[in-house]
Amino acid sequence: MDITGRPSQEIYDVVGIGFGPSNMSLAIALEEHEASSPQHPIKAHFFERQPTFGWHRNMLLPSTTMQISFLKDLVTFRNPTSRYGFISFLHASDRLVQFVNNQDFFPTRQEFHQYLEWAAADLSDRVTYGAEVTSIRPRTGADAETPDLLEIEVRGSDGTTSVVTARNVAISTGLVPRLPEGMTAGERVWHSSEFLSRFNAQDPRGLKSVAVVGAGQSAAEITRFLYDSLPHAEVSAIMPSYGYSIADDTPFANQVFDPSAVDEYYFGTERARDSFWRYHRNTNYSVVDADVIRALYQRSYDEQVRGSQRLHFRNLTRVAEVEQTGDATRVVLHSQLDDKTTELAVDAIVFATGYDGVDPARLLGDFDQNFLRDKAGRHQVTRDYRLVAASGLTCGVYLQGGTEHTHGLTSALLSNIAIRSGEIADSIVLRRTEQELGSSVKVARSAA
Ligand code: FDA
Ligand code: NAP
Repeated sequence: MDITGRPSQEIYDVVGIGFGPSNMSLAIALEEHEASSPQHPIKAHFFERQPTFGWHRNMLLPSTTMQISFLKDLVTFRNPTSRYGFISFLHASDRLVQFVNNQDFFPTRQEFHQYLEWAAADLSDRVTYGAEVTSIRPRTGADAETPDLLEIEVRGSDGTTSVVTARNVAISTGLVPRLPEGMTAGERVWHSSEFLSRFNAQDPRGLKSVAVVGAGQSAAEITRFLYDSLPHAEVSAIMPSYGYSIADDTPFANQVFDPSAVDEYYFGTERARDSFWRYHRNTNYSVVDADVIRALYQRSYDEQVRGSQRLHFRNLTRVAEVEQTGDATRVVLHSQLDDKTTELAVDAIVFATGYDGVDPARLLGDFDQNFLRDKAGRHQVTRDYRLVAASGLTCGVYLQGGTEHTHGLTSALLSNIAIRSGEIADSIVLRRTEQELGSSVKVARSAA
């Protein structure tokens, strides 16, 4: 038996690495394909390193809302009649009527998390939790000249390592937290991705001075949370910009997240792709939802009316250095306004400085040399989200994430996961059919 509980010689059609929303959506697309074509079942299994399902748990702050409509769930854009839609979840939770009364397209992140947990529970037979994939390498099949199978090495929660074999992998390992160069996370220096677990481990009375670095959605949400949760604390927002900028979610701009925008980006000219970023980066990066900006400004204004200030906005300012000695943390700030350096003593500092995308090379190791890169050194990716192989590899390495340079802004977001997963599922099925046809032609030729 392998780590999945199936016979160890099992060859999967696809192994999914990571079980966040993207690969959950793929698991459902594959299940729904099988339901419509039961004579051709797809053997799929998924590995998730967390012990149970969780979606950015450390940022499940009270009252934070989704940045997409509830209809951009795991399935609806691909199959509105799927049983895995958000509306089915509301119905199962006996809350559909109340949700409609509430007249809001944007559920809280806590409610969306409940939805994802509800869907994950139904998919549990095809996931192994507490299982981290550590590498992917090629295995040459007995009758093939080129590698046609992949070996996936998985480390279980007990530290033991197993290998499973598959024709394809779908890498969907999510965003990678990014700290500014020279900064190291520690007891009092946190990245936003670990915020709640770090915060909850503290005695709030010991947090008398806290700072948040960045001017994106994470920074603004954490600043508001700290201000509200620590009524005795000084809260400093250290911003590279002059103020928070608004996330453009107006209808015309929002079209950059439409499924059709993927084709326009993918097949567009280099200039078109540049324009997507130049004009529409502010739909997602380094921007904040209007309600959070207003909530923070209101708190600041109320302080002015009261004549007491503990919310400090340090604009056009960056962190030059952080020094930790015992419980004391000293932050050196550099202001672009006057080019001066000041110091700030804090009990904790949160770097809400964003993320990097999926980099498949981390898992591919030496095998990565088999895949082509563009002039800028980025992986080449087919329209159906497969890494382009240098020579005739028949196995497929699919990416869910890490394709902003080829497929555009939806790459790291939820907006298009239903459609993207359907396209990947279709591609896996189609390529398998082509390979089966190819093998039967070979057999017929050799028999003739
Ligand atoms: P996701 O990161 O969710 O899942 C990847 C999974 O892979 C994780 O569970 C991880 O544990 C696992 N994993 C990683 N390496 C592994 C390995 N080697 N082996 C096994 N498992 C491994 N977007 C949007 O469109 N609307 C929104 O409202 C939000 N909100 C939002 C809030 C916050 C706080 C953040 C940080 C981001 C968002 N996003 C977002 C963007 C976000 O990328 C998106 O919501 C999804 O998380 C993307 O889903 P994925 O499954 O691709 O990655
Ligand atoms: P982000 O949008 O990338 O913002 C990072 C911020 O950190 C930017 O202001 C950036 O400034 C700043 N920064 C980066 N390096 C810095 C440095 N060295 N010094 C000072 N500042 C620095 O990251 P995010 O806010 O974590 O958002 C990431 C994704 O998660 C987005 O898609 C966002 O929408 C999503 N998100 C959603 C929710 C929600 O659904 N409610 C909540 C949080 C996050 P520059 O502009 O100068 O780079």
